[in-house]
Amino acid sequence: MAKSRSSSSRSTKPVATAVFPGSFDPLTFGHVDIIERANQIFDKIIVGVLYNPSKDVLFTQEERVALIQEQFARYKGKVEVVSFSGLLVEFVQSIQSRVIVRGLRAISDFDYEAQMALINRKMAPHIETFFLTAREEHSYISSTVVKQVAMLGGDVSRMVPPGVAKALARKYREKKLLQSKGKRG
Ligand code: PNS
Repeated sequence: MAKSRSSSSRSTKPVATAVFPGSFDPLTFGHVDIIERANQIFDKIIVGVLYNPSKDVLFTQEERVALIQEQFARYKGKVEVVSFSGLLVEFVQSIQSRVIVRGLRAISDFDYEAQMALINRKMAPHIETFFLTAREEHSYISSTVVKQVAMLGGDVSRMVPPGVAKALARKYREKKLLQSKGKRG
């Protein structure tokens, strides 16, 4: 009897902190909405920013973290931004959480997300993945699309927070300058 109480206590303890992991290259309004909604359910959201040196990213690790911190500066203690590398489940365990939050925009997201959730469960059965469906108005937004639009000089103000829009404009301005310098030799 005592054994069953102790083994179930791990999974029945209320969860105060959940992890919202991602690449955030860059943060979009879709991410912001999921973080805000998850924050109404959990006491604290740790935004886990993946550091993956082999992945080609536009923004550096520090820039991606800073853009999220800027957006959630007023959520002191409720939203924290932390870099992680390696396995997500190990990161979740290291901060004594057992919930991963992911957003689903469309059915097409489901295959990849379900596979990830199942692999994570295989590695760490006590960690659960919670899915929040994206708001309709955000269902077309992805970091990839945002970068494409910004690179071509389009308006991204309805897709990303103002700080991110400015950072994108600056990034592509710098890139263009570098390219034109390169061409001139
Ligand atoms: O924003 P993204 O790129 O869709 O986020 C993907 C992320 C960071 C959640 C995923 O790639 C991840 O968890 N990476 C860490 C490595 C890991 O744990 N892999 C096993 C599960 S597939």
